[in-house]
Amino acid sequence: MIASYPQARLRRTRATAWSRALHREVLITPADLIWPLFVTEGSGVEAPIASLPGVSRWSVDGIVARAREAVDLGIPCLALFPNTQAERRSDDGAEALNPDNLMCRAIRAIRDACGDTIGILTDVALDPYTSHGQDGLVNAAGYVENDATVEVLVGQSLNQAAAGADIIAPSDMMDGRIGAIRDALESHGHVNVQIMSYAAKYASAFYGPFRDAVGSRGLLKGDKKTYQMDPGNAEEALREVELDLAEGADSVMVKPGLPYLDIAVRVKEAFGVPVFAYQVSGEYAMIEAAVAAGAGERDALVLETLLAFKRAGCSGVLTYHAAHAARLLGA
Ligand code: PBG
Repeated sequence: MIASYPQARLRRTRATAWSRALHREVLITPADLIWPLFVTEGSGVEAPIASLPGVSRWSVDGIVARAREAVDLGIPCLALFPNTQAERRSDDGAEALNPDNLMCRAIRAIRDACGDTIGILTDVALDPYTSHGQDGLVNAAGYVENDATVEVLVGQSLNQAAAGADIIAPSDMMDGRIGAIRDALESHGHVNVQIMSYAAKYASAFYGPFRDAVGSRGLLKGDKKTYQMDPGNAEEALREVELDLAEGADSVMVKPGLPYLDIAVRVKEAFGVPVFAYQVSGEYAMIEAAVAAGAGERDALVLETLLAFKRAGCSGVLTYHAAHAARLLGA
């Protein structure tokens, strides 16, 4: 039985700040945030990314400083992506398997500096390492081969786990990779290394600035539509998630974020597992462009969009605004 006006006045509970606070259904806190960071060679390097204003690539020492900052801000986890030197990129992305690659050095440096006070999530996919910018191995016809790629991704995952990664996050969208990676982690003693699967990852126009950041944009010919999902599909996202859970994913991700909130809701309702959303580079850039154009106010836009993810049922959000948001929210 629902009362009607004037017995019911929904504005009553909105009349004061204390009452709005009391009735708020969801909260965003720094503990909900995962901070994506781009690593580059050198020392003392901060290289701004033009299409991602306010975000830089950092050399390993700078990444360690960001990790310390994150701990102070109450951010529980970092997501690392490498900008591999051009001469280390190859057709087969072999640098992904090098135990001394940029990622592994960054992982070890953060671990040395911060111990287990912060989580380290690492991206598994070959695009930062390939000379063609695709996430996997490309055959003569230009097709990204599934099973051969999975073998390399398994090696990449073991390499990152050995360096100290806490969460392996495959973003490549090959079939069967979660099960293969889980088996390998188990048999190599990494039983507590988690897998956060980019389970519902769409072939999206919102990834452009990220590709600038890892240096794959100019290399990439064509698109990623033979492995990333079609933006028209929602039922298929549920199948992707179901398979990844059956193969041993500890948590799943929906990506991009805001344009795909309906997917996050449906995944949460269908499976009740930890769901994360990636507010991707193009979404970040849209907010910054709106701010620069005087069309919106940064702090409010950031907090409102992050809250939307929590309302949709997400456990947390990967966002380039993580440090800024955490500062606004207070540790
Ligand atoms: C690639 C990868 C991408 C992102 C994360 N991992 C780009 C792509 O699939 O081309 C995008 C993240 C962002 O746009 O912020 N494995």
